[in-house]
Amino acid sequence: MLRTARPVFAEINTPAYVIDEAGLKHNLEILREVMQDTGCKILLAQKAFSMFAVYPMIAEYLCGTTASGLYEAKLGREHFPGEVHVFSPAYKDEEFGEILEVSDHIVFNSAAQLMKFKDRCAGKSIGLRINPECSTQETAIYDPCAVGSRMGVRACDFDESLLQYLDGLHFHTLCEQDSDALEVTLEAVEEKFGKYLFRLKWLNFGGGHHITRPGYDRQRLCRLIKRIREKYGVEIYLEPGEAVALNAGWLVTEVMDIVRNGIDIAVLDASAACHAPDVLEMPYRPPLFLSGKEGEKPCLYRLSSRTCLAGDVFGDYSFDAPLSVGDRLCFEDMAIYSFVKNNTFNGMPLPDIGLLRKDGSYELIRRFGYEDFKQRLS
Ligand SMILES: Cc1ncc(COP(=O)(O)O)c(C=O)c1O
Repeated sequence: MLRTARPVFAEINTPAYVIDEAGLKHNLEILREVMQDTGCKILLAQKAFSMFAVYPMIAEYLCGTTASGLYEAKLGREHFPGEVHVFSPAYKDEEFGEILEVSDHIVFNSAAQLMKFKDRCAGKSIGLRINPECSTQETAIYDPCAVGSRMGVRACDFDESLLQYLDGLHFHTLCEQDSDALEVTLEAVEEKFGKYLFRLKWLNFGGGHHITRPGYDRQRLCRLIKRIREKYGVEIYLEPGEAVALNAGWLVTEVMDIVRNGIDIAVLDASAACHAPDVLEMPYRPPLFLSGKEGEKPCLYRLSSRTCLAGDVFGDYSFDAPLSVGDRLCFEDMAIYSFVKNNTFNGMPLPDIGLLRKDGSYELIRRFGYEDFKQRLS
């Protein structure tokens, strides 16, 4: 039965991550409008989405990339014409030389790291991550302001003498949030660090801004950016990951078997544990094309996987008609934090990576095989 988000998905190899060129462009146009309206610079946070095959297209809109360390910084430098920023909680001596070669902005997480590396950073723009101690969300694992967090320097530990080495400050405290949370955070940043901002060149607002989500209050975002920019005379950077590729990809999978144990359980060729680890880590129930929640439609299934992990389950979904072996299903919003985090636990094959072109055609970008599994293991 055809349950695929696009007819062409009935033909492709599964499992496959399919990136939607039109969806990406839609997001990028929104982000460009924010830059045009406010004069801020927006970077792609590669940790969320690193499909470098589409970097040239993203580079037509955004100003550069941000990296969590050497490898992402190199990827950004190699494939994305634009600025390369890097933030890591700690840099290794032996990696730092290469980081310098490929990065424009280097952000440190502590005064000790700054003092250790500052003399090697000639010609680079140096920043320090701050912790405004302002939690605006409840999920501790995604809250860099949670008690005991290692992320950023708190105001009580900030020594004004560090300013002579700094061009900017960086904060990242949001996760999938609207601009109301940014407003609250900026109040804390200003109260605790505002006096330093007058002496700096830039302020990086980090990621977690769900700018391209329908209903996000962009007007407020733009108002906030302009206010901070004008008040302190600083350049503003935003480095969203999710917002760049939000709702711009699917994980297409096939039903391999259906078993029953109190509930009908479909065994898929995709795995939550291997191919969408955030489903178990966050956890969340990913949206699935043409399905409903339990009770919304007549036929209920638990969608699981062919790994050995009993809890390798995407969730319970209802359908208008019974599922059959061979049916294709499409998990939605699977461009972000999916293939950047996947793994080959149980020797599971990695899904193909494909691109749905704007004209509706499908292009296979990369297929993985046994060697990709093996080469990490000995
Ligand atoms: C420092 C930093 N910048 C940017 C991001 C991107 O965040 P998001 O993908 O939620 O926009 C993250 C995510 O963890 C981050 O830690």
